[in-house]
Amino acid sequence: MIIVTGATGTLNGATVDHLLKRIPPEQIGVSVRDPSRATHLADHGVRVRQGSYDNPAALRQSFADAEQVLLVSSSDLTADVVAQHRRAIDAAVGAGAQRILYTSTHGAGFDTPYPPLGIHAATEQYLSESGAAWTSLRNGFYGDPAQLLGAWEETGEIAMPADGPFSWIDRRDAAEAAAAVLTADEPFEGPIDLTLPKPVTLADFAASASEIAGRRIERVVVDDKKWVADAISRGTPEEVARFTLSMFQATRSGHFSDSDPTLTRLLGRSPRSITDQLKDLDTR
Ligand SMILES: NC(=O)c1ccc[n+]([C@@H]2O[C@H](COP(=O)([O-])OP(=O)(O)OC[C@H]3O[C@@H](n4cnc5c(N)ncnc54)[C@H](OP(=O)(O)O)[C@@H]3O)[C@@H](O)[C@H]2O)c1
Repeated sequence: MIIVTGATGTLNGATVDHLLKRIPPEQIGVSVRDPSRATHLADHGVRVRQGSYDNPAALRQSFADAEQVLLVSSSDLTADVVAQHRRAIDAAVGAGAQRILYTSTHGAGFDTPYPPLGIHAATEQYLSESGAAWTSLRNGFYGDPAQLLGAWEETGEIAMPADGPFSWIDRRDAAEAAAAVLTADEPFEGPIDLTLPKPVTLADFAASASEIAGRRIERVVVDDKKWVADAISRGTPEEVARFTLSMFQATRSGHFSDSDPTLTRLLGRSPRSITDQLKDLDTR
């Protein structure tokens, strides 16, 4: 059985949908914090059990019969996230899972200003010492383009701090790839990078946005201090602004400039490009 956590979240919810296209529902289980939000999966014949990274006993029970467990990286910013991940890994090992998979991030490592990368690196380290076989799905960046680009449709410009190359993937592609990895004939060992075939910059986003809008969208580089001050004056909490800035600072060092063909190979097609992704927003 394949057990998936975070199945009431966006990424792993979509992963379960893709799994249902590949294997029978009785081979799929989910461990979710609130089973009442997973009745659609139970209706499809998926085993639904309650589990939380904060409750090791329930978690272990929810992982029973697992050959593979896919762990979502926690979104609980108030918690010690690495401790949560350790508890989840311990529960999967305790339940006898042969392989543990984890949704990590491209560029995971301890040597960058962007805090999530260290969390993912610490979790991968714990996985590597767990005794179970493991796979880390190092997804490129994804999320709401408005947070990355600002209000370019109104202002006609992408006014953000200086950036460097990075991969901006479509979360739907990440989910499809995860399902492909979980059902592959041959297992994937250790970290795998799931990136665009070629990294992008905000200048590339400006070019794509210009193409879609049919008018010139400028890329304007804003000084770090000014950008943080402007964000705070618009009502963004200072720690959130500084956190976002740290991401741009990490991209500048070339930390995300490599790319890997694995995502393309798993999908059997090109991943959705940034133009595809912006067009999708346009037609929503
Ligand atoms: N690569 C990137 O650029 C990128 C971008 C955004 C996020 N992420 C990471 O990727 C993860 C998945 O992304 P997403 O878009 O699917 O986010 P999401 O929709 O917020 O899903 C997060 C999931 O984590 C679950 N969760 C939170 N705390 C938990 C706990 N204590 N025990 C068990 N499950 C817990 C949530 O459960 P509930 O459904 O019960 O709330 C939810 O299902 C995020 O949590 C974040 O760590 C990566």
